[in-house]
Amino acid sequence: MCGIVGYIGKRDAAPLLLEGLQRLEYRGYDSAGVAISGKSGGLKTVKAKGRVRDLDSRLPKRFAGTTGIAHTRWATHGAPNDVNAHPHLDADGQVAVVHNGIIDNASEVRAKLEADGVEFASETDSEVLAHLIGRSQADKLEEKVRDALRHIEGTYGIAVLHAAFPDRIVVARNGSPVVLGIGEKEMFVASDVAALVSHTRQVVTLGDGEMATIKADDYRTYTTREGSRTAASPETVEVEAASYDMGAHDTYMHKEISEQADAVDRVLRGRIDDRFSTVHLGGLNLDPREARKIRQVKILGCGTSYHAGQIGAGLIEELARIPADSEPASEFRYRNPVVDPDTLYIAVSQSGETYDVLAAVQELKRKGARVLGVVNVVGSAIARETDGGVYVHAGPEVCVVSTKCFTNTVVAFALLALHLGRIRDLSVADGKRIIAGLRKLPEQITEILAREDEIAKLAQQYTDARSMLFIGRVRGYPVAREASLKLKEVSYIHAEAYPASELKHGPLALIEPAMPTVAIVPDDDLLEKNRAALEEIKARSGRILAVAHQEQEKADHTIVVPKNEDELDPILMGIPLQLLAYHTALALGRDIDKPRNLAKSVTVE
Ligand code: M6R
Repeated sequence: MCGIVGYIGKRDAAPLLLEGLQRLEYRGYDSAGVAISGKSGGLKTVKAKGRVRDLDSRLPKRFAGTTGIAHTRWATHGAPNDVNAHPHLDADGQVAVVHNGIIDNASEVRAKLEADGVEFASETDSEVLAHLIGRSQADKLEEKVRDALRHIEGTYGIAVLHAAFPDRIVVARNGSPVVLGIGEKEMFVASDVAALVSHTRQVVTLGDGEMATIKADDYRTYTTREGSRTAASPETVEVEAASYDMGAHDTYMHKEISEQADAVDRVLRGRIDDRFSTVHLGGLNLDPREARKIRQVKILGCGTSYHAGQIGAGLIEELARIPADSEPASEFRYRNPVVDPDTLYIAVSQSGETYDVLAAVQELKRKGARVLGVVNVVGSAIARETDGGVYVHAGPEVCVVSTKCFTNTVVAFALLALHLGRIRDLSVADGKRIIAGLRKLPEQITEILAREDEIAKLAQQYTDARSMLFIGRVRGYPVAREASLKLKEVSYIHAEAYPASELKHGPLALIEPAMPTVAIVPDDDLLEKNRAALEEIKARSGRILAVAHQEQEKADHTIVVPKNEDELDPILMGIPLQLLAYHTALALGRDIDKPRNLAKSVTVE
């Protein structure tokens, strides 16, 4: 949510900042803005409601300067317009600030400043920072920023420019990510590495409560509270710059759906242990004796990650026979949960930044719980805060709508379930059976993706729907939930998921030709029960699209997917429905990679 970038060096800053913003646009796309330290002194700022391309078209031809900061916004406080766009300036126009996060006590601080005669230009919470820094009497910029932050409660990743200190950018982090990119006599700063990797692979990730001063040929990190130096050793980012490119695809969503066979291959690579019919999970930090003592597993995530966690919970129950469930992290953290010492907690997140998940992890850690992470972004906040975990290795996911990461997260859970199962009571034969199933996945995914044309044609038939029902039973229910989320967020068609077993308890009342149903109908022990639900819908003139292992007589259309082991079927059954959501949105002319009102990394509550 919101992306910040900064550059200091010898090159013209504006084009580099714009390029960085474009890479971070998935974090927010309500407005964008840039501030440059001009060659002749002073700060120049341009802001625009809308996308980075709108900002670009507003930049004057001569917007020279080799130091600058920029921002792409997801609006929290104040409407998306030019005035509320960042950077925000202090009253004298000497200080420019870009901010990602939420200042919780902004109204209080603003009231005090206004009582002192400060006039605010915007409705944002972030503007208080610019005024506080501008009014600080400290000599050094670093001290001014530290002074200002003492008045602030909330989360922030900030970058600050000051006209009187043109040789530096000061950045600080508390709860919202900030990474420094170290180049050859130039330095970058950004909310995530996506904005840096085309220039440098050497990065330093700031920790919470840490600040940094970056100059063209030097950087220094220190604590925000005391200003004491901290050790910051650069790490090499492994991900290739090219993996952020769209390649031959028209959207990132399409690219990411298409990459799933390779992505699954990656999450499996090097982890299967045929000798003991199990898997090795290097970073788990859970020895077998501890694993045997686990009495319950609680999985926490938001949105798609929560749904992946629901399938994960099912896998853990089935393969390891440990009671497991998944809950939205956003709910969990506010209900004063009982934290049980024999429960293993697992935080799931693509970005590793989602505020509600991070806050749940911190609360659990504070209460002494053991928390593992199932995370995609290596080195992200959640990956760092957890006691160990499994990386999902889906590669960068840029589209706001999560697809390949969902699939890889479920596969990562299958690995974890197998690992726990083989430490407990899962037999060698079952271990072998699951491993064989996992190995089949990439090929089966390729088979499903080859049916894209058929699914695209089908999608045309559902564009007129105002609302759609998604149903599934047990293993199929979380698949239905995820598929309904996909459809609604990318096509804006209302969709609701229900357990097929609950149809008769209410939702059947909705069935009519204008309310199509998508049914998950695997060939497992519940096949006949699922078929009965199709009968009931058909008897009420409902239209049915089934995702199944064989043609369903009662369905108007069946997307037939290859059969795997019963436990692993949910991994495959969601994939055609990602394509259905994509093609429905395409037919409706939606902004597929950037659905309205959303952003990818939800770093605010
Ligand atoms: O980065 P995370 O996995 O923690 O993100 C959680 C949700 O915000 C995310 O899955 C969201 O629901 C996506 N838009 C789903 O496509």
